[in-house]
Amino acid sequence: MIRLAIQKSGRLSEDSLSLIRECGIGFLSSTFKLKTEATNFPLEILFLRDDDIPGYVQDGVADLGIVGQNVLVEAGLTSLQVEALGFSKCRLSLAVPRGEAYNSVADLQGKNIATSYPQLLGSYLAGQGVQAQLHTISGSVEIAPSIGLADAICDIVSSGSTLLGNGLREVETVFRSEAVLIANQQLAPEKRELLEQLQFRMQAVRRARR
Ligand code: PRP
Ligand code: ZN
Ligand code: MG
Repeated sequence: MIRLAIQKSGRLSEDSLSLIRECGIGFLSSTFKLKTEATNFPLEILFLRDDDIPGYVQDGVADLGIVGQNVLVEAGLTSLQVEALGFSKCRLSLAVPRGEAYNSVADLQGKNIATSYPQLLGSYLAGQGVQAQLHTISGSVEIAPSIGLADAICDIVSSGSTLLGNGLREVETVFRSEAVLIANQQLAPEKRELLEQLQFRMQAVRRARR
């Protein structure tokens, strides 16, 4: 039996479940159950907060995970990546209040920026020679400017509706991301074999989608 961690609720959840189903793996899922077993493959699925997935896979609590590259890079655990999955594409972007003047990233010098991605944003700003105060918050980042918590934000943008709904304008792309498959680096041989079978099926699904 191999354990796969996927996001409980969020952008990646539906796409991750669809991929597993398209791999021909059947399972029952209910909103309140955080763990389920596949009916026709030795697979257990854990439903977790996406931010927790890289750490669980690193520690071997889960053998495999499907997570956004953004979360993986932020956690400093890129060595766990097995392959990019080609879905849930998004970008990590800087955004400012829509009415605010903005010419270049230099305008963020000395500003307060709220983000859940201090590592990715910090290295981007350092590369641009901009110094700013980063305020790390774990969610609802887009609310920060309207409640006086920050001058700008840096968060994941997919459709852009969260920015739009909160009066924000996207001004810089910090990082481009998609879903990736990750694995613990000390998998037992039986589990490594199951991972290979899963990868084989996932690749077939990707080819069929094209
Ligand atoms: C991201 C981000 C926004 C949303 C943006 O959340 O934090 O909430 O997606 O998407 P949109 O541009 O389509 O409106 P994510 O799903 O990564 O989950 P989390 O931040 O709650 O972990
Ligand atoms: Zn998250
Ligand atoms: Mg979010």
